[in-house]
Amino acid sequence: MTDTILVTGGAGYIGSHVVVELAQAGCAPVVLDNFANSSPEVLPRLEALAGRPVPCIEADVRDRAALRRTFHDHPIAAVIHCAGLKAVGESEARPLAYYDVNVGGALALAEVMGEAGVATLVFSSSATVYGQPERLPVAEDAPVAPHSVYGRTKRIVEDFLRDLAHANPNWRIAILRYFNPAGAHPSGTIGEAPLGKPNNLVPLLCRIAAGEFPELSIFGTDWPTADGTGVRDYIHVQDLAAGHVAALNYLAQNPGAATMNLGVGRGYSVREVVSEFERACGRTITRKLDPRRPGDVACVYADPARANSQLGWRATRGLDAICADAWRWQAGGGKY
Ligand code: NAD
Ligand code: WQD
Repeated sequence: MTDTILVTGGAGYIGSHVVVELAQAGCAPVVLDNFANSSPEVLPRLEALAGRPVPCIEADVRDRAALRRTFHDHPIAAVIHCAGLKAVGESEARPLAYYDVNVGGALALAEVMGEAGVATLVFSSSATVYGQPERLPVAEDAPVAPHSVYGRTKRIVEDFLRDLAHANPNWRIAILRYFNPAGAHPSGTIGEAPLGKPNNLVPLLCRIAAGEFPELSIFGTDWPTADGTGVRDYIHVQDLAAGHVAALNYLAQNPGAATMNLGVGRGYSVREVVSEFERACGRTITRKLDPRRPGDVACVYADPARANSQLGWRATRGLDAICADAWRWQAGGGKY
């Protein structure tokens, strides 16, 4: 592929790894980001890893005029839409902000793509749309029942994108449901850099191991799982990024809307992740046993068969690589 690909949210955690993967596949990535949860300082690092200039438009994805200029100025063949707000707890406190950015942003983007005649879109959705699945592993045809405002914003965007593809057969849309992205680029130069105390397990373990926080609160030891702690499908961010390139290749052959799980297909408990992380960093993580976190579910892991067969993609990196790469990024500073 030699196409120019717009990555909204391309300065963020997942978007930055997607940019590098696109460049490695021969594409020309262009970033659009308002730096609401990232920093322009990632850009030189991206260019170093990509081995090519990466143009960046500083703009809000809801800004239709800025989007129109972007499609005018760059020969964009497809869009990977990663921009959005993603903190589950904050989404409960600020629902309108989440509907505005996540739903309003995707609407503005789809509208301007339509005007510009660009009809290939990859959307960052989330396994959070499943809530607690009735059956495991969870496949794409399972009922969706998100437990949070954040999850409902993803469900709404998924629905209108499918409606769009149904109404107009020119559209080629991949809805990618990420499980639990974690880890960092093995170079240690890009990774997840949450502001303040991280909400997610692996970035929090990084900061505890670095001495920034004293201990890990394990949210619930009475879940109906083998060791009583929550079980999730942790997927290395590089495997996830590779899934986006595979999705673009798939869309080149397949019009319409396709929904795909991007997960490994196996779950690990909180206790298993903590033990693996301790091995990776060579330090002890102090644990505190706390009550369940509101909105959490016991166990979620993917059936990735559809993505495996239709995208010709599968996750190849294990929890050991996730922890080792996350710790390498943290040990190098873990921020921009
Ligand atoms: P992130 O916050 O690191 O990246 C999102 C990027 O979007 C940031 O660079 C931010 O500055 C930018 N952004 C936010 N609002 C914007 C706006 N209005 N206009 C332009 N840019 C804006 O998050 P991430 O983990 O990289 O997530 C990327 C996408 O994947 C999000 O849509 C998220 O909901 C989804 N997702 C993430 C996870 C996860 O655990 N990280 C899991 C499932 C789905
Ligand atoms: C993982 C496990 C916690 C922190 C969230 C979003 C989801 C998706 C990915 C965007 C759970 C436990 C965590 C801590 C703990 N994001 N935990 N102590 O909740 O599976 O998914 O991020 O789409 O939508 O909900 O990920 O990393 O927060 O938690 O015990 O301090 O670790 O209870 O079992 P989660 P997480």
